[in-house]
Amino acid sequence: MIRFNRSVFILLLLTLTAGPLHAVPDGTQDKLLYDKHCSICHSMSPPPKSAPPILGITRHYHQAFADRNDGVVHMVKFMKKPDAKQSKLEAAAISRFGLMPAMTLSDKELEAVAGWLWDSYDPNFKSPGNCAD
Ligand code: HEC
Repeated sequence: MIRFNRSVFILLLLTLTAGPLHAVPDGTQDKLLYDKHCSICHSMSPPPKSAPPILGITRHYHQAFADRNDGVVHMVKFMKKPDAKQSKLEAAAISRFGLMPAMTLSDKELEAVAGWLWDSYDPNFKSPGNCAD
């Protein structure tokens, strides 16, 4: 009887402690970074908030860079020190929304969120044809 109780207890303990380790699948954490640090200004798709929507940005980045790593490196550099001359968007985007403020996230977080942004590319996304993309 005592042995039975102990194994039930251990099983319960394993179930409780193992649960949270599997709660966040790969990729979700990078989306959480967007939710926390970017979604205040960037919507995923039109209508825009106070910045161009993510699907338009990633389309411009896929046009500007053939290689994921090159696109991610450029985004990280831009987010640390935004510079209109380095922008991969149409010039009208900056006149409409202003330049993005510098981000103070760690390099690791910036790389993760930039990778997530690159991977959010949707070839079927049609921009509304104004500077919001
Ligand atoms: C306070 C508002 C604000 C926040 C917060 C913000 N952005 Fe931006 N972002 C902008 C604006 C405005 C632009 C358009 C002008 C520009 O390109 O600088 C922009 C442009 C961009 C661009 C395109 C840069 C280019 O080539 O011109 C990327 C990539 C980007 N944001 C990613 C992010 C990510 C990822 C986050 C979160 C970590 C984020 N932004 C948070 C306002 C914001």
